[in-house]
Amino acid sequence: MDSTEIAIVGGGIIGLSLALELVAAGRQVTVFERGTAASEASVAAAGMLADQDPENPAELKQLSSLSRSLWTDFRQQVERLSGMAVPVHTRRSIQVAHHLPEGFTEATPEEIASVAPGLNTSGKSAFFLEEESICPPELSAALPVAVRAAGISLLEQTSVEAVHDRADGIEIVTSNGSWLAGQVVYTTGAWAAQLPGLPAAPRKGQMIYASLDHPLDCVLRSPDVYIVPRGGGYFVIGATVEDAGFDKQVHDDDIQALLARAAALWPPIGNATIVSTWAGLRPVSPDHLPILGPLDDQGKGRTWAAVAHYRNGILQAPGTARLMREFIEGQQLSVDPTPFRCDRFALSSVQ
Ligand code: FAD
Ligand code: GLY
Repeated sequence: MDSTEIAIVGGGIIGLSLALELVAAGRQVTVFERGTAASEASVAAAGMLADQDPENPAELKQLSSLSRSLWTDFRQQVERLSGMAVPVHTRRSIQVAHHLPEGFTEATPEEIASVAPGLNTSGKSAFFLEEESICPPELSAALPVAVRAAGISLLEQTSVEAVHDRADGIEIVTSNGSWLAGQVVYTTGAWAAQLPGLPAAPRKGQMIYASLDHPLDCVLRSPDVYIVPRGGGYFVIGATVEDAGFDKQVHDDDIQALLARAAALWPPIGNATIVSTWAGLRPVSPDHLPILGPLDDQGKGRTWAAVAHYRNGILQAPGTARLMREFIEGQQLSVDPTPFRCDRFALSSVQ
């Protein structure tokens, strides 16, 4: 039987960024990915690193701030290891909200007109956020290359079918044979109810990639819709939020409704040409917060989970990787993990 020190089950951004963090700390890691790495929620995302979005639950603040502080290093590490570019596409956002949150300053009509002429604030508050966005397809292309360049064994087309706790370690039963691991971390995203049996579910988001010959270098966002410029006259428009199981079909009526919402926020986008559409599955827990930390209650420190990052997993990947590495190495934690504890839910069939 092959063996590994740490097995990571799931090769999305959460699993791959954790693998990089662990290998940098001298650990030996194998990532098991059922399909192609970073080809599920992680490639489908809009790429906003929205740590200050007032729609985010307050409990996310510490993890989001930690992640944001680590994101530039993470991005540069991926670029250096892969030799591929993962550029920042935008550096600020305008948020339109019903109320001006504490600590923010209302943008003046002149400021808005100079950045996003025509933005429809319709009596609501609008304010600037210093917040970056990256392109998830660029990140998803580079990340697996970076992971392999770092010496991590990334096994694609390798589904983990069962995990057994044994006296000498943890047996990972895959579609390509069994492995013996010292520890296992589940980063199975929207599939976490299947393995390891945590209450996470898929929440679908349909998205639009559109072209429009109109300058904009700033994300526009309301609670209903967002418009993310990718440069060169291309824009991502998102997103629906649907409980539709594992269905990833795109529906024309939903896309038209999404485009109409975008045009209500910023009328010029109503003239955009749709280039492509897709849907992804956000992993969501019952309280919308991630599920992070130890899974085994006997203090063996062998089984861990990092799932259910819902709408902010791209932002939160480097912070989650740091926190999980600290957990695994028994170090002081950078973030209070209490809101994210695995045992806050009744566990169904946790292995
Ligand atoms: P995934 O990327 O889904 O990876 C999980 C992986 O586990 C999959 O590759 C799957 O094949 C694998 N797997 C599952 N079970 C097994 C098994 N048994 N064996 C082997 N492999 C297995 N976040 C942001 O921060 N900013 C945004 O702007 C943003 N926009 C979004 C827009 C949309 C439409 C969507 C869908 C999401 C968005 N998100 C955004 C959220 C973000 O994409 C997710 O939170 C994040 O990608 C979750 O990463 P993950 O690695 O947990 O999941
Ligand atoms: N964070 C963007 C989305 O989930 O649609």
